[in-house]
Amino acid sequence: MTRFKSERIAKFAFDFAEKNNRKLVTAIHKANIMKLGDGLFRQTVKDVGQDYSGIEVNDLIVDNASMQAVAKPQQFDVLVTPNLYGSILSNIGAALIGGPGLVPGANFGREYAVFEPGCRHVGLDIKGKNTANPTAMILSAAMMLRHLGLNEQADKISKATYDVIEEGKVRTRDIGGSASTTEFTDAIIEKLA
Ligand SMILES: *[C@@H]1O[C@H](CO)[C@@H](O)[C@H](O)[C@H]1NC(C)=O
Repeated sequence: MTRFKSERIAKFAFDFAEKNNRKLVTAIHKANIMKLGDGLFRQTVKDVGQDYSGIEVNDLIVDNASMQAVAKPQQFDVLVTPNLYGSILSNIGAALIGGPGLVPGANFGREYAVFEPGCRHVGLDIKGKNTANPTAMILSAAMMLRHLGLNEQADKISKATYDVIEEGKVRTRDIGGSASTTEFTDAIIEKLA
């Protein structure tokens, strides 16, 4: 944990909030116990937040954040956390909305970005069965297109995906259907045509 890297991720969180019209950034930490490392992280996020008028900043210890995420997730807007708490909270989030097959993710470095399902379950138990839900992968690809400035294409693909899920006729098993990965993907492609 360093000030420089805490600043870097805090700026990313506030820039993301600004770009996406979000109003609140919450720093998640364990500063009551990890006083030096997480204390520095919490303070740095608050300091960086001073440069962004119009975006509120608060913080929560990870224990309470986990409970709040299950009990009252709507109170959150943008969360910024060190790696460990973020992995745990993103898995809680995925479970809340239907499972690991649904949530896309992105990793941003200074020069490179990598797009992949958000909670990285490898799903060995369903390997080779053609039953996985490809939504997380498809929406990750849409995020990649957005990152490259191809918003129109990204919107088309994500809308087609949401539409297929919403209609409910073709759904994979994890979200209550019986369609195969191929059938579900074909239904999305058909919407795009
Ligand atoms: C837990 O979070 C809630 C809502 O964010 C807050 O009202 C409450 O005071 C927190 N409790 C503790 C012990 O921090």
